[in-house]
Amino acid sequence: MAKKKILLTGATVAVQFISALIASQAASVKNASISVLVRGEEQARVLQEKGLRTINFKGFDDDSTIKKAASEHDIVINTASGFEAGLAASLIRGLGDRKNALGVDVHYIHTSGTTNYANSPTLNLYQGYAAATISDKATTQVVSTLRQLNEASPYAQRTTDLTVLAVGKEAGVNTHIITIPMLFGFGTGFFRKLSGQLPILMDEALRARQVWIVGDGVGVKQHIHVEDAAAVYELVLKRVLEGLDVPSGKEGIMFVENGSHSWNEAGEALAKAGKSLGALDTEQVKRLTLEEAAKTLGIDDINYVEVAYASTSRVSAETARSFKWQPKWPKGSIWEFIEPEWRAVLEERK
Ligand SMILES: NC(=O)c1ccc[n+]([C@@H]2O[C@H](COP(=O)([O-])OP(=O)(O)OC[C@H]3O[C@@H](n4cnc5c(N)ncnc54)[C@H](OP(=O)(O)O)[C@@H]3O)[C@@H](O)[C@H]2O)c1
Repeated sequence: MAKKKILLTGATVAVQFISALIASQAASVKNASISVLVRGEEQARVLQEKGLRTINFKGFDDDSTIKKAASEHDIVINTASGFEAGLAASLIRGLGDRKNALGVDVHYIHTSGTTNYANSPTLNLYQGYAAATISDKATTQVVSTLRQLNEASPYAQRTTDLTVLAVGKEAGVNTHIITIPMLFGFGTGFFRKLSGQLPILMDEALRARQVWIVGDGVGVKQHIHVEDAAAVYELVLKRVLEGLDVPSGKEGIMFVENGSHSWNEAGEALAKAGKSLGALDTEQVKRLTLEEAAKTLGIDDINYVEVAYASTSRVSAETARSFKWQPKWPKGSIWEFIEPEWRAVLEERK
């Protein structure tokens, strides 16, 4: 059987994932050839040293390079951005071209985020929407929630999911949307080791010498250790390579989660650890309004500030669990990482 060709995009999530792939013991994964779409020479050099093929591109608008690269592969895993509908469409169309030319089965594995299903507690953008737990097995509810929320207030990451579904269907490409919550923990990748909102909140707290959160802090955010998220990508890829059933299209929207925290809990833990390390002046957590947070973060889009810093979203990862995915890090592990992540951020910012 011809060697399957895999194309990866992205740095943090993907690079974590690349190291998991290199270490993978699965014969199907070991036999595949892996290329990575990169825009930096340093990244290309490091990845080539690891035995990976790299393809240079200029950025998300480099449609012709992206499409051509995808057309040379059987499987694309896009972890670069869940907010770029154009990037997703170019990758899927490239795969569609390969399918038309060679008649082979092609798969697009996309990265999205659970904030697509978040409520809007302050701006009240989605009247009557309570963000009750939604399972990835409830396909009709998942897709209608995406559509209804996006009609009420467009959000680029949701628009991109809907684009993936539409372009995948039109191009005859199997699409799988891995929807992740907030990442925590240290990646074993070759570039950035930290990801997600904790380091952002730490950076902001360092600037203000005090942790701040937005609004009343009662919103609930789910989380996952970066290694456990990478394991879902590996599992989906392995199943695709081995010809096992993996839902695609609307059914292929898959959630990842293992545990949750409120913004208040995160703020208090960050403040306590930051103060004990001497990085902050106080353990008190400051509360900002959406407008104040937008100004502090330098973000114009107040809807984004609400969704990313003050909302609740709850999903249930039934599909991955039905494939025997078992998170290695038990619920509550996030709290063990607050101090080490603080130390890493302080080290990086020295
Ligand atoms: N991290 C999380 O906690 C989290 C949670 C939920 C969902 N997600 C989803 O995962 C996606 C990726 O997250 P991440 O944390 O891995 O992000 P990241 O570390 O910031 O990585 C972004 C990647 O996109 C590339 N990139 C950014 N702007 C680009 C541009 N204009 N042209 C070409 N490449 C560009 C970067 O390339 P360079 O290395 O060259 O800069 C990098 O490889 C997010 O968009 C989101 O949809 C992440």
